[in-house]
Amino acid sequence: STFLKDGMVEDWDLFEKVLDYTYSRHVKSEPQLHPVLMSEASWNARTKREKLTEIMFEKYGVPAFFLVKNAVLAAFANGRSTGIVVDSGASQTSAVPVHDGYVLTQAVVKSPLAGDFVTMQCKQFLEEQGIDIIPTYMLAGKEAVKEGEPAKWTKKNSLPEVTKSWHNYMAKEVIQDFQSSVLQVLDSPYDKETVENMPTVHYEFPNGYNQDFGSERFLIPESLFDPSTIKSAPGQTMMGVAQVVTTSVGMCDIDIRPSLYGSVTITGGNTLLQGFTERLNRDLSAK
Ligand SMILES: Nc1ncnc2c1ncn2[C@@H]1O[C@H](COP(=O)(O)OP(=O)(O)OP(=O)(O)O)[C@@H](O)[C@H]1O
Ligand SMILES: [Mg+2]
Repeated sequence: STFLKDGMVEDWDLFEKVLDYTYSRHVKSEPQLHPVLMSEASWNARTKREKLTEIMFEKYGVPAFFLVKNAVLAAFANGRSTGIVVDSGASQTSAVPVHDGYVLTQAVVKSPLAGDFVTMQCKQFLEEQGIDIIPTYMLAGKEAVKEGEPAKWTKKNSLPEVTKSWHNYMAKEVIQDFQSSVLQVLDSPYDKETVENMPTVHYEFPNGYNQDFGSERFLIPESLFDPSTIKSAPGQTMMGVAQVVTTSVGMCDIDIRPSLYGSVTITGGNTLLQGFTERLNRDLSAK
């Protein structure tokens, strides 16, 4: 589990445990000796900012504290003080306009179509294919098998007692490796014929099972850009990545729109999907 919800601290006890751990295991020094700069979600609530500041000064006794919106840091890291920051992480994809170093909070737009969604789609696909997801901690050994043949693996006989949440976390890691190795975003909207002529990718799971993956490589991430391809959620209105960006820019003053489109910063783990940036660029140029 996480202490965050919608990018904001929700479980303060857990959050403080993480801070304690950070100071004792990573900083390895007294909090009173170091000024702190922390990043926050652009939509962080005022009450949460206040509570955080209080904890930092009163519990940890930091000498100085500064909270910066993560979109501003992403823009500055790319040498821009004005631009739109597109962050596609695990739980959501957001578009945040930054103008002269400040976030235009009224024009922030978010969509739940992000990395966790892609992971879920992969999990569903692998289940449908009858492919078992065996986390590495359970494996004692495996034999080489031919493509598409059942895996020949042995289970560790001294398996440690693990919590369900840790097991799921380890299983998610296997799917996320599949996700980053196999998936590719097409540079134009999904088209059956184009996809059939694209190269397949060979992938081997930790237990030795291996096969070539074809059209699903493209179909799964297509849902990020074209939510109408999502079969499990018909009728639901979710915004694709380009639509998140255009909606956000559309909510900004007309005078600054060109400077936002002129400087799009892309960040977040999900944007590492092969072809993500190229496709977003294309979709935005087309609008
Ligand atoms: N190389 C990669 N290729 C594809 N996806 C990746 C890659 N690396 C990480 N991801 C995905 O990126 C996501 C994590 O991104 P990131 O670390 O930006 O999220 P986060 O900041 O923790 O989440 P959020 O911003 O939603 O709270 C995961 O869903 C992961 O599967
Ligand atoms: Mg993030």
